[in-house]
Amino acid sequence: MNNQYDATVDELEHAADDAGTTLYGDHEWKHPTVVAGVPWKNPVGTASGTFQLAACRHFYDVSQMGAITTKGVSPVPWDGNPGVRTAESPAGTVNAVGLQNPGVDHYLVDELPKLKELGATVVTNVAGHSDDDYADVVAKLADSPADMLEINVSCPNVSAGGMAVGTDPVALSRCIGRLRKLTDKPMIVKLSPNVTDIAAIARAAAEAGADALSLINTLVGMRIDIRTGEPIIGNVTGGVSGPAIFPIGLACVWKVRQALPDIPLIGIGGIDSGEKALEYLYAGANAVEVGGAALVDPTAPLRVALELEELLDARPELAEKLAKGDTWR
Ligand SMILES: Cc1cc2nc3c(=O)[nH]c(=O)nc-3n(C[C@H](O)[C@H](O)[C@H](O)COP(=O)(O)O)c2cc1C
Repeated sequence: MNNQYDATVDELEHAADDAGTTLYGDHEWKHPTVVAGVPWKNPVGTASGTFQLAACRHFYDVSQMGAITTKGVSPVPWDGNPGVRTAESPAGTVNAVGLQNPGVDHYLVDELPKLKELGATVVTNVAGHSDDDYADVVAKLADSPADMLEINVSCPNVSAGGMAVGTDPVALSRCIGRLRKLTDKPMIVKLSPNVTDIAAIARAAAEAGADALSLINTLVGMRIDIRTGEPIIGNVTGGVSGPAIFPIGLACVWKVRQALPDIPLIGIGGIDSGEKALEYLYAGANAVEVGGAALVDPTAPLRVALELEELLDARPELAEKLAKGDTWR
């Protein structure tokens, strides 16, 4: 078995048994958090695109996570990018999956009911290539059982001349302002680090109606195959994730927290241990999401949550703040 995506169910169940990590179902979490009014059992969620229910449910009780953030959901099924989609890199991965997903109608009758049946707190990640795309998905999710929506504003967007709406405060404000009118659900805007001033973008999202911000998405990167002299990834460039981006994500959370003292923040980027999660909480995050680490070890998000719990045992002042929806800074 190479990873969670190409294993059979039998292989997954054996691997999960061997790892002895199928459960923690009766674990009593001592240190909850609150993100935009939504209670999380603990401050650790999964990051979008790195959790697949069909695979991960064999490894652990997914309802034990603070929240499960789904793969990006688009208005119609998307095939994703052709060709090679990922390349290894020192302390990270470059990916250009291209937001492959079966579309919002499928999500509403298949994945979301399953996640809710298992008792998970669900953050539905929304993808779009235009403002209309986002609006279609958000309108369909407005009456769904999703607990929160996370808007991925890092996708190339035709309404913004091909660039991601998350890189321009004016385009972002227009897009989020429109979505705000379509739903009362807590709406998280997921920020791109591929900008000059992330605090200015964060402010635009907050002023347009975001209830919370998550950060960061991947950074633009590429690899070249020196045998051919050509880019490895079919899409040429992709998004860099993993330990390499940890200090960058942390600095982004710090900067946004300094600029916006009150908005709930979810820290993302390179988290593979309780200690790294804790650094994000000390930078001013209310919660964190674990991404690429789960592609190497599907149980990583739960392990990080358990490690963080022990660290918070020894830090009652921080734990108390998080439980009330407050932050260290
Ligand atoms: C394979 C892969 C797919 C991803 N798909 C999405 C996605 O659909 N929507 C999204 O907002 N972010 C997506 N991301 C970005 C992650 O959610 C996360 O922001 C990023 O990987 C940084 O966290 P990490 O260093 O812990 O992986 C994806 C990342 C990876 C590695």
